[in-house]
Amino acid sequence: MVSALRGGLKRGIEVAEQDRSLYEKVVELAHRRGFFWPSSELYGGVSGFLDFGPLGAAMKHRLEEKWRKWFVLRHQDFIAEIETPVVMPSKVFEASGHVQHFTDYVVDCKSCSRKFRADHLIEEQTGLRGLEGLGSEALSKLIAEHGVRCPECGGALGEVRSFNLLFRTTIGPYTENVAFARPEAAQGMFINFSKVYRVMREKLPLGIAQIGKVLRNEISPRQGPIRLREFTIMEIELFFDPEDPTCPLLDKVREEELKLLTEEDVEKGAEPRKVKVGEAVEEGYIKTEWNAYFMALSKGFLESLGVPDDKQLFVAKLPSERAHYAAQVYDQTVYLDRWGWVEVSGHAYRTDYDLKGHMEVSGEDLRVYKRLDTPVVKHKLTFKPNVELIKKDFGSNVGGILKEISRLRVEEISEALTRIGFIEVLGFRLTRDHFIFKEEEVKETGRRFIPHVAEPSFGAERLVYVTLEYAYSEREGRVVLKLPKDLAPIEIVVLPLVSRDGLPEVAKRVYEELVHRGFRVEYDESGSIGRRYARVDEIGVPLAVTVDHQTLEDNSVTVRDRDTWSQVRVKVEELPAKLRAYLDGELSFKELGASFK
Ligand code: GLY
Repeated sequence: MVSALRGGLKRGIEVAEQDRSLYEKVVELAHRRGFFWPSSELYGGVSGFLDFGPLGAAMKHRLEEKWRKWFVLRHQDFIAEIETPVVMPSKVFEASGHVQHFTDYVVDCKSCSRKFRADHLIEEQTGLRGLEGLGSEALSKLIAEHGVRCPECGGALGEVRSFNLLFRTTIGPYTENVAFARPEAAQGMFINFSKVYRVMREKLPLGIAQIGKVLRNEISPRQGPIRLREFTIMEIELFFDPEDPTCPLLDKVREEELKLLTEEDVEKGAEPRKVKVGEAVEEGYIKTEWNAYFMALSKGFLESLGVPDDKQLFVAKLPSERAHYAAQVYDQTVYLDRWGWVEVSGHAYRTDYDLKGHMEVSGEDLRVYKRLDTPVVKHKLTFKPNVELIKKDFGSNVGGILKEISRLRVEEISEALTRIGFIEVLGFRLTRDHFIFKEEEVKETGRRFIPHVAEPSFGAERLVYVTLEYAYSEREGRVVLKLPKDLAPIEIVVLPLVSRDGLPEVAKRVYEELVHRGFRVEYDESGSIGRRYARVDEIGVPLAVTVDHQTLEDNSVTVRDRDTWSQVRVKVEELPAKLRAYLDGELSFKELGASFK
């Protein structure tokens, strides 16, 4: 009876296991083993924030380091990383346009007063898509037309209104010192552009990179680790001369294929197209070579995190959906079990929008000067007022007229005279005779201009989740987390086969040596060897080193591969060098055991 009950229970649990979505399995594993869990749970939790446990924090740091190598260090001759504060004065975000434009639309339930992001709520309840660009009126209309109700209490909804997503604060005890937490690291790069340009020896292209926390006061984030109010952004602002927009590295990726939905495809509801990077630029699907280059790198980056090509798609944002600063944006999306296609990076062509904004608000000249290889001679039209004639024709008004004229540009005057034969100044008509025009030759030895910017931008927490989901696998009823080796929070576990016969002592010495050599390593002697392998498989430890009785005879250990469960023997003295080579991808697993006799 008891065993029948147990069997029934066990089957029940198995069914429940099968029924759980991949998302639920990953989240359960993440909470149980310490990758991440909800933030401030002791006090009820707060959505949109995430705490990383020991494994998650280590994995996230490794991910940031991998991004740094992939995008920054490989271009260290022209991309430099900086670090700037999270809190910045309001002027920064007035100049950047975030104070005016960084908004979403919120709607309140009239019964329970809960607040929701209007476009997401309508999408959830109606199945409509692509509402991101709609304004409050259009969203209110959709709510009325489709009878959208409060998802919590079923109550009627009020009017949709806009909500600014910046976190506001004041600096020090001065209420007038309004500041905001940055919603992107980019502004730190823009306001430091001139200084970094100078220390990087005044050359374009110039990339400025930053990894750091940003905050966005999302209205009602309900997607666990996917949509956060505080997250780590990893982004590059690549500054280039708009008259010389070539990316010298494009040839390296020209033949690679990208799966794209262009703006036109999105509008028509077309299927994605597969295009080579070079063709995407030539056909104008991607407006800048630099964005195209970074998109190709980003595709490879996601592949290296375990997301295959067919689960990646670049989707252009329509003008109504784009951030206020962008002339073009492609979202790199990947397919996730619970959420469908989710953005993992954004590729924006920001033109000179940001530097121009900071020039206007700060009054500083942020242009760069570029010396021309060969000076060019240009013809320049200049003018002087014909004071004598103006005095003769307009008498005592001459003073006011001359003052007004001094504010005019030569092009304005010349254009009006050519078009209508006169220009009106203070109500008086001045003709060509009232001006003395002169054409001068000027030698230009350089130009001053505002650089344009291409930006790739990633969120680290989301990538940690994506990597976990793609690494998750089950074998013989157990979880095997096939994390990329360079992201595994623990690289090696050292295990004595049994906790007697002197094996723990030897295993501890091996462990100490590996720690000393800089590996991320764990020691475990509790429980059966099978249980211990299972424990490390489910947190993605790539290698298990086991000290057994043969170790005492010939100083060799077994090394076990997480993904295939196959084993090789390796001499203890060869371990550090060989394990490093394997983890760095320089040795295959088979080669690890090759020299052992
Ligand atoms: N800087 C990229 C973003 O704000 O999403």
